[in-house]
Amino acid sequence: MKVETMRWANDKLEMINQRILPAVFEYLSYDSAATVAEGIRSMVVRGAPAIGVAAAYGVALEALRLSSTLRQAQGERSLFDKGMEAGFTALAQSRPTAVNLFWALQRMRKVWQSVATQTTQQIAQRLLAEAHEMLAEDIRINRAMGAHGAVLLKDGARVLTHCNAGALATAGWGTALGVIRSAVEAGKRISVIADETRPFLQGARLTAWEMVQENIPVTLITDNMAGYMMAQGEVDAVVVGTDRVAANGDVANKIGTYMVAVLAQRHNIPFYVACPLSTIDLAIPDGAGIPIEERAADEVTGFRDCQWAAQGVRVRNPAFDVTPAELVSALITEKGVVSQPDRESIARLFGS
Ligand code: MRU
Repeated sequence: MKVETMRWANDKLEMINQRILPAVFEYLSYDSAATVAEGIRSMVVRGAPAIGVAAAYGVALEALRLSSTLRQAQGERSLFDKGMEAGFTALAQSRPTAVNLFWALQRMRKVWQSVATQTTQQIAQRLLAEAHEMLAEDIRINRAMGAHGAVLLKDGARVLTHCNAGALATAGWGTALGVIRSAVEAGKRISVIADETRPFLQGARLTAWEMVQENIPVTLITDNMAGYMMAQGEVDAVVVGTDRVAANGDVANKIGTYMVAVLAQRHNIPFYVACPLSTIDLAIPDGAGIPIEERAADEVTGFRDCQWAAQGVRVRNPAFDVTPAELVSALITEKGVVSQPDRESIARLFGS
């Protein structure tokens, strides 16, 4: 695996600092739920599956931290439980849209409950083992999605993608970029058109970097060039990731995805969404119920230290939008491809 988004090293979680890629490649180290929550909030780690796995490690780190502190202080079990609850809350409040975060926290809570009568050290070790398993499982799932999705891309396809749904957005391989990697691995000549992805520039910084690293041909465009490229006949398929899919197949993904989906329909270009089952939220009937994160104004008024917008201007910064299911040609999941997804076909994915 060329890109190790996060790894366990020296009893800590290390994550690539995606805020400053590709200018600087560095790992930052995390040792508690609070620090991991801050890493997620500030987007050191981002992308729905990666957020989920990082949160799982956040829970395990908190258990390890509390069990060693309380052992020294001869503390009581109630203090451990209280500390763990605070850790869960901090992580749950880090970002609202990617449902993988809440999925991962729920899974970790169930594991905690299943070993609640054991010592805090044993609980911590069990939680850490679960986080390791979630990391490995995520890569396996991405590989499976890749294999299913690769079939949809023809040899020579020029594939437009939005944001970064690559190895960096997961534990490895990627969802949308995983499909592209799998197609390339299968011997297909695929080239990628990467939307820049304003305002955080995940396309220009992260997708472009991942593709360049692996010698997969990539062309960077600004978001407002997608329509022109499609009209010129330069796009054969769109493949994106997602942060949450509602029970009816509506898809929340990085702001600007909806625009791409509308354009794809206009130009008869298939619009595929790579989507692990952990990203499907059956509790939300349709896209209107998906919480959309609003981020800070300074992401729109400039980038890093450079501000270009007029001082004092009012700003909106919704970080995601919702693409109605009717615009989705297919969901690519680890269980297979669901063409024209709807409530019934999505429910079937969760059947035995
Ligand atoms: O704000 P981000 O960078 O976390 O948004 C990420 C996306 O929108 C991705 O497309 C999505 O999480 C799928 S990642 C496999």
